[in-house]
Amino acid sequence: MIAPSRVPEPAPPGAPPAIELKGLTKSYLGMAPVLSDVSLRIEPGSFVYLTGVSGAGKTTVFRLLTLQERPDRGEVLFGGVNVARFNADQRAHHRRAIGMVFQDYRLLLNESVEDNVALPQRVAGVTGAELRRATRARLEEVGLAERAREPVLGLSGGEKQLVAIARALAFRPPVFFADEPTGNLDQTVAFKVMDLLKRIHERGSTVIVATHDLNLIRSYRARTLLIKERKVHEVRLVEPGAAGRGEPPPAPPAEIAAAEHP
Ligand SMILES: Nc1ncnc2c1ncn2[C@@H]1O[C@H](COP(=O)(O)OP(=O)(O)OP(=O)(O)O)[C@@H](O)[C@H]1O
Ligand SMILES: [Mg+2]
Repeated sequence: MIAPSRVPEPAPPGAPPAIELKGLTKSYLGMAPVLSDVSLRIEPGSFVYLTGVSGAGKTTVFRLLTLQERPDRGEVLFGGVNVARFNADQRAHHRRAIGMVFQDYRLLLNESVEDNVALPQRVAGVTGAELRRATRARLEEVGLAERAREPVLGLSGGEKQLVAIARALAFRPPVFFADEPTGNLDQTVAFKVMDLLKRIHERGSTVIVATHDLNLIRSYRARTLLIKERKVHEVRLVEPGAAGRGEPPPAPPAEIAAAEHP
């Protein structure tokens, strides 16, 4: 069971949004656009769900935000700065300010848990006792300190997800993205992962979670965005009536009603 949340301090009035998309259009080579003229503001310190059917474009949004893809048109602003046209050095610097958990984990399966978690800092030149201390702290944070020496190959899906989260916390990122972090996990492990994401949020990071899992959304209510027909919509959740934990999850997106786009 997830404890009641502590809401972080709101951003000072007049502060730029943590993330802003302006008139964003994205198509993959020779295909119809996945996103068309999307505009969106995400306030600093907020927690946001990104939902939508498979293929709607959730991962595409993350790729645009992490600069793995460039938009056809439009701006991607972080703290008011357009990062969409950054050069390679600027992109590398920008990515360090983002914790990213990928849909497919992207772990080095034959390497140990601790080597996977240490990797971003090792690449950034952190070594020796400092690296060991930082890695240990992150493993403790996700509850995997006892498994540090084991190869990732032998871990369960949920444990791999925790390794991916520990790795993504390397630079105490002000923004944290998780792409379907509970996709293949049972409810108990899913709630453990969710608890961790909630703690990352409570520590002050802006957190965006792509998910299909309505039980997860209900467990920790937050602003929910739906990608549908190339646009991003604000949504409100329809109350499930008697449905709750332990009952089969209702199918999205029928349960999600799109509200007026602001
Ligand atoms: N590299 C690519 N080249 C061509 N088309 C792509 C590429 N990546 C994604 N697409 C297409 O763009 C659309 C959006 O894909 P995306 O992965 O963003 O969806 P998603 O909402 O994350 O789906 P899922 O819930 O299955 O993860 C899909 O139609 C997909 O086939
Ligand atoms: Mg995806």
